[in-house]
Amino acid sequence: MKTKNTGNIFDLKFIMAKILVINASPRGHRSHSRALTGLFIKTWQTRYPDDSFTNREVGQTPVPHITENWIAAAFKDKATLNPEDEKVLKLSNELVNELKNADLFVIGTPMYNWGIPSGLKAYIDQIMRINETWKFRSGEPDGDYVGLLENKKLYILSSRGDSGYNKGETNEYMNFQTTYLKTVFNIMGVSDVEIISLDNEEYGGERFAKSQREINQRILQIR
Ligand SMILES: Cc1cc2nc3c(=O)[nH]c(=O)nc-3n(C[C@H](O)[C@H](O)[C@H](O)COP(=O)(O)O)c2cc1C
Repeated sequence: MKTKNTGNIFDLKFIMAKILVINASPRGHRSHSRALTGLFIKTWQTRYPDDSFTNREVGQTPVPHITENWIAAAFKDKATLNPEDEKVLKLSNELVNELKNADLFVIGTPMYNWGIPSGLKAYIDQIMRINETWKFRSGEPDGDYVGLLENKKLYILSSRGDSGYNKGETNEYMNFQTTYLKTVFNIMGVSDVEIISLDNEEYGGERFAKSQREINQRILQIR
């Protein structure tokens, strides 16, 4: 159970939270980001046993890339959609509804080539839907994005081979992973974003073990 702040301090509602967990690693039991989402679920379930979870796999079974027909349909006025358009948007609509129905999102993702794995990018292309998850403030292209996913929180649980990607660190300029995810979810209206990143996986040894201890501790302290 979580308290949900509706903006009014006297209007704190108790809700059973719905949590959407998105895993993006192509790896199964070897995946460290998957281990982080697993620990998150276990921790959360102990704390809030009535909350519910939905899993969305985009690593081992990626969602399809968007196509020419998808783009044409997604930018059409809803009232003018024909049965073919509806068909091509079916999965995207399901994914968008999954987001709308959840209170909390947890993304478990590797860093791949300084960004996110292509399966997660394909998923983001499917959910960045004009007039569904975001819109232009004026209704026409005006460079001012208004997010349509309200009152949600996102945890990004990432795993990276190297380190130094955080603010002010040497590799900050190469981090297109957590910064990208934070930006697109901000555009969709999710401003409450917490990033927890496991570093040094490729070095192993004590360097990695230290990061694992710190990151697991942070997850165990989530509330
Ligand atoms: C194809 C590929 C590209 C990678 N690119 C990077 C990278 O750019 N920077 C980095 O720090 N680690 C990189 N790594 C290391 C992964 O981020 C690291 O192994 C991570 O733990 C993978 O996530 P997983 O354990 O959930 O599968 C890469 C690994 C692979 C397989």
